[in-house]
Amino acid sequence: MNSKQVVLITGSSTGFGRLFAEALARKGHTVFATMRDPGGRNAKNASEIRTLAEKDSLPIYVLEMDVTDDASVERAVDAAVAKAGRIDVAINNAGYVVSGLAEAVTPEQAQRLMDTNFLGPVRVNRAVLPHMRRQRSGVLIHISSAAGRIIAPSMGFYCASKFALEALAEAYSYELAGQGIESVIVEPGQYETPVFGNVVTGADEARTDTYGAVKEIPAKVQAALSSSAGNAQEVANAVLRIIETPAGERQLRYFVSPQNFGVDEINALSKQVQAKILAAFGLAADTKFLKGKAVGTV
Ligand SMILES: NC(=O)c1ccc[n+]([C@@H]2O[C@H](COP(=O)([O-])OP(=O)(O)OC[C@H]3O[C@@H](n4cnc5c(N)ncnc54)[C@H](OP(=O)(O)O)[C@@H]3O)[C@@H](O)[C@H]2O)c1
Repeated sequence: MNSKQVVLITGSSTGFGRLFAEALARKGHTVFATMRDPGGRNAKNASEIRTLAEKDSLPIYVLEMDVTDDASVERAVDAAVAKAGRIDVAINNAGYVVSGLAEAVTPEQAQRLMDTNFLGPVRVNRAVLPHMRRQRSGVLIHISSAAGRIIAPSMGFYCASKFALEALAEAYSYELAGQGIESVIVEPGQYETPVFGNVVTGADEARTDTYGAVKEIPAKVQAALSSSAGNAQEVANAVLRIIETPAGERQLRYFVSPQNFGVDEINALSKQVQAKILAAFGLAADTKFLKGKAVGTV
């Protein structure tokens, strides 16, 4: 892989995605900053990114991509490959939070959440993998969350979407290493981005009328998260370091957080258990590539 890489990012209109685009482009990486509706609801965000790119001569190209739409994902990936000739890194970042007691969240809300947070990366990975396999190199980065490893009441559906993402990303890591492709999971704690203003609340609140004090939990959890949020640039710096880590030396999981919730301990134990499981399936010899992939922080 060249030291200067071609990176496709989902959900680049605001927050982490936007910071990743700028941080990577300032280091000379070519960035396809994708977002939904750059000509409409995200016109201002798209124009700010294009203006920055022009002013500072940064290699950032804005492309339209809605991760819930197969054709939109394929169009964006095709456009990036047509322009740059390759894709070295795909950052699955687009996502949002559903907050609410589980019974208040409707199946339609749950379905939409999974369509973005879980099936979005499925679509993106399916679109980029043929190019990465041809190159015999590449990195899939999955922006999960501490909530992909720990569970809070009122966050059940969001946690489920990130747990699902983690499971898939880990399976990819075993299956793709032999092709020279790494799958990496980033688990941010709480960071200051527009995410807290974009929280979708359970639509069927009347269902929780009998829950008493438990009804206060969603507001309490959101307030605790937003009041202790760290500087999001930390996550952008971590992603930059991951991308600039030599191929084959990246870890499977990176927990990046202003607070230590013990996620590193879960990750360390999970790594031991997974090694035993792979050995029990007779797969240990096929997974030599796992050597050196210690979990930890960047
Ligand atoms: N901030 C935190 O504390 C934190 C912690 C852990 C994990 N995360 C994760 O980090 C990721 C980025 O979130 P953020 O904190 O940067 O919040 P954000 O500023 O709200 O960014 C979310 C991004 O996802 C995009 N998005 C949502 N649905 C989409 C779709 N269908 N297609 C394409 N893009 C879509 C949004 O685009 P629009 O502008 O079009 O809505 C936006 O660009 C998310 O996956 C989130 O779960 C955040």
